[in-house]
Amino acid sequence: MQHVISLRDLTREQVEVILNRTAELKAGLARGARPPLLQGRVLTQVFEKPSLRTRVSFEAAIAQLGGYGVFLSGKEAGLEGRESLADVARVLGGYSDVIVLRTFSQQLIEDFAAHAGCHVINGLSDAAHPCQALTDIFTMREAFGDLAGRTLAYVGDGNNVAASLATICAMLEIRFVVAAPDAYRLDESLLDALRQQFPGAILSQTMDPYTAVSNADIVYTDVWASMGQESQKTAREKDFADYQINSALMGAAPVHARFLHCLPARRGLEVTDDVIDGPQSLAFPQAENRMHLAKGILAWLFNT
Ligand code: CP
Ligand code: NVA
Repeated sequence: MQHVISLRDLTREQVEVILNRTAELKAGLARGARPPLLQGRVLTQVFEKPSLRTRVSFEAAIAQLGGYGVFLSGKEAGLEGRESLADVARVLGGYSDVIVLRTFSQQLIEDFAAHAGCHVINGLSDAAHPCQALTDIFTMREAFGDLAGRTLAYVGDGNNVAASLATICAMLEIRFVVAAPDAYRLDESLLDALRQQFPGAILSQTMDPYTAVSNADIVYTDVWASMGQESQKTAREKDFADYQINSALMGAAPVHARFLHCLPARRGLEVTDDVIDGPQSLAFPQAENRMHLAKGILAWLFNT
């Protein structure tokens, strides 16, 4: 059974198919095409954390493809101990063709998938956000075409989004640089594992955001305190104060550079209004692309 739990489980060829299928379905929708490729299929989403983009993009995707979406909070589904995880997975898998999970624990998604008997997609965990990173590469391709030789500079917390971006950049041999305070870097063991798995990977970390963006085609950021880290918000705002994406930092990037943010944004913290609403920002086309990418993943999973 094919799952999308970590991008490291996918091949470069599979990623190419998903991106190409996404482009076809997006172009088709622009002409008014909503092909019922998944008629009668059920997509169930179980989320332990809030979501706007992931939840609604998958609901819109399954609706446009002729299927039906069901949503449950983790608590409603019984992930907080009402019954065993394996039992929840077996029961939900019996009703569903594909299940999207948003969790704290990456291991929970792995364990769930082992028992679900249907496709399982990671809709964000503390460790990874694969659907986001696929969307971001799709958005970069729309902006630049071929991504060979391009650089993505990620300025901010070495979190789930950064980890998935590092993975997809390593796979596709896009140069990836993280700028973060020392205590918030991506785990070096992840970068080493990626270098081993993808010998063409070009991954680096620095503490200097100006160095990071100096050759960047994409300047990317995410919130400084992720879901589950709310109690660290004040400390993190202090620690990341020099890492805001503002007009001065964007001005240090090449003029053709574009700005991406997975959203939700904390305006005035990790990014200023003039950048996220400015001419270099692709943050809102990027958010729309979550839906097109969700359709591309679903069409690929069901080989349709
Ligand atoms: N980018 C993203 O995953 O947004 P949500 O948390 O709103 O789903
Ligand atoms: N790093 C953020 C991403 C939100 C889409 C979080 O985990 O809250």
